[in-house]
Amino acid sequence: MQPKVYLNGRFLPAEEAHVSVMDRGFLFGDGVYEVIPCYGGRLFRLAHHLERLDHSLQGIRMANPLSHPAWQEILERMIEQLPSGDQSVYLQVTRGASGKRDHAIPGEIEPTIFIMTSPAVYADPAKIGSGVAAITLQDNRWHRCNIKAITLLANVLLRTDAVDQGAAEAILIRDGKAMEGAASNLFIIADGIIITPRKSEHLLPGITRDLVLELASANDTPFNEAEISEQRLKDADEIWLTSSTKEIMPVIELDGVRVGNGKPGPIFLKMSGLYADYKSRLQAGTVEN
Ligand code: PDD
Repeated sequence: MQPKVYLNGRFLPAEEAHVSVMDRGFLFGDGVYEVIPCYGGRLFRLAHHLERLDHSLQGIRMANPLSHPAWQEILERMIEQLPSGDQSVYLQVTRGASGKRDHAIPGEIEPTIFIMTSPAVYADPAKIGSGVAAITLQDNRWHRCNIKAITLLANVLLRTDAVDQGAAEAILIRDGKAMEGAASNLFIIADGIIITPRKSEHLLPGITRDLVLELASANDTPFNEAEISEQRLKDADEIWLTSSTKEIMPVIELDGVRVGNGKPGPIFLKMSGLYADYKSRLQAGTVEN
């Protein structure tokens, strides 16, 4: 049976959940979202996801319509519907529907809250084992990429260009610097050190990114948050992409050229092992989330 979705206070079958055509999410992409993995019945880093949601809402001049405990209660009811296996929870808050289409934000408006969950679809283990191809593309997104906005047309087109060229992801270059993927954060290895760009308005502060840095720090693996020039990206010994759905994915070919020796590198193997251990402890409930 399909799990119910949550819409504005009600749990109902997806086909019975309807939103107004005047909703500003539909008309303007005026809203924000989160994707939260759920491992072994536990929402992964919920507090971090809710903090990022607060930040995204603040960035678009919206108050959070729910308190964190209220979100937690609803999200836990959602995930109880799929008692076995891991899942991926999607939530979005849009500004809601008003009487007319007007770019300027109206004063009185009820937000639309929507949540759905589905069994987790992990990256193909064969792909993680062998690595994927990526291409570089100019980052033509706006200057507020730290807001997790539902307005994803630029990301959609960039990712599709990558797929059209037989690659799994587009790595985005702005002013000569690599920022992140179309839907993932970026890591490289140079001189044996893990490097990822510093947080800024040009990339999303990924929850997986932060966990990778935490695991590196706890396991004496040197890392640095620093600029990655396009040249540095091309010269990297390893390149990885991270996200809630991809976890850590090695890139073994960039713009048709082999990265390192064309195989997932030793630091990737170490970090991906640490990530897998962390996930199993989460599934078993033996580690703080
Ligand atoms: N995207 N950067 C961008 C542009 C993203 O869209 C994502 C995730 C990330 C990684 O963030 P996190 O580790 O918190 O998932 C970085 C999600 C998965 C999506 O849009 O489906």
